[in-house]
Amino acid sequence: MSYIKKIQNRLHSILFNLLPNKVNLKIAPSARVYTPSSLTLGLNVDISRGTVIKNKDNTKVKIGDNTCISEYCVLDLGEGYIEIGKEVFINSHVVILGHLGVVIDDYAHIGPHSTIASHKHIFQNKKIPIKEQDVKITKQKNTKPIKIGRDALIGANCVILDGVQIGEGAIIGAGSVVTEDIPKYSIAVGSPAKVIKKR
Ligand SMILES: CC(C)(COP(=O)(O)OP(=O)(O)OC[C@H]1O[C@@H](n2cnc3c(N)ncnc32)[C@H](O)[C@@H]1OP(=O)(O)O)[C@@H](O)C(=O)NCCC(=O)NCCS
Repeated sequence: MSYIKKIQNRLHSILFNLLPNKVNLKIAPSARVYTPSSLTLGLNVDISRGTVIKNKDNTKVKIGDNTCISEYCVLDLGEGYIEIGKEVFINSHVVILGHLGVVIDDYAHIGPHSTIASHKHIFQNKKIPIKEQDVKITKQKNTKPIKIGRDALIGANCVILDGVQIGEGAIIGAGSVVTEDIPKYSIAVGSPAKVIKKR
């Protein structure tokens, strides 16, 4: 990206704070949005300091009303998308990799230092570097997006892997690695996460 384009994008970020139709929109000056024009924001969105949204012209990010993205989070779109509903709370240092799509429904809560990784690496061919094989899978888009249901709670330090659907109101215990779908209103813990009880 050219130097001028970078300055334009930074100015665009700062100008969000001045838009009359964005009531109480708060984007910290140290937050960075690569391409503000492909960011759709609701009312009262709070993007805290140090957070980076790595999007492009063709990769959409939606963030709903009253949603807070805390300090030092990374939303990396790749070639994909990230849709975050309203009243969502994303705690600090969360990483969301949206290459094959991530949808987080209203009122969900993501604990600090969690990672939501929507894409999978292909590594069968030992002659091609893994990072180049990964580019191929991204283009094929043959896996499902990650979906985190309404009012679900993801504990601290969790990892949510590609294609996983976490049901409405489900709770994932701290430090869990979620490899399979978790039914609604279940409590799941561990690596791999297993349901231990219902709410
Ligand atoms: C998953 C959780 C909600 C369960 O809470 P709870 O219903 O009170 O469950 P309990 O403490 O009675 O634990 C039930 C069992 O699960 C185990 N367990 C609880 N949390 C666990 C976790 N995160 N990982 C592995 N096992 C866990 C307990 O050791 C206990 O096992 P046992 O039956 O063999 O003794 C809670 O432990 C948790 O991890 N909450 C997330 C907290 C967090 O990350 N907060 C910050 C983000 S906002």
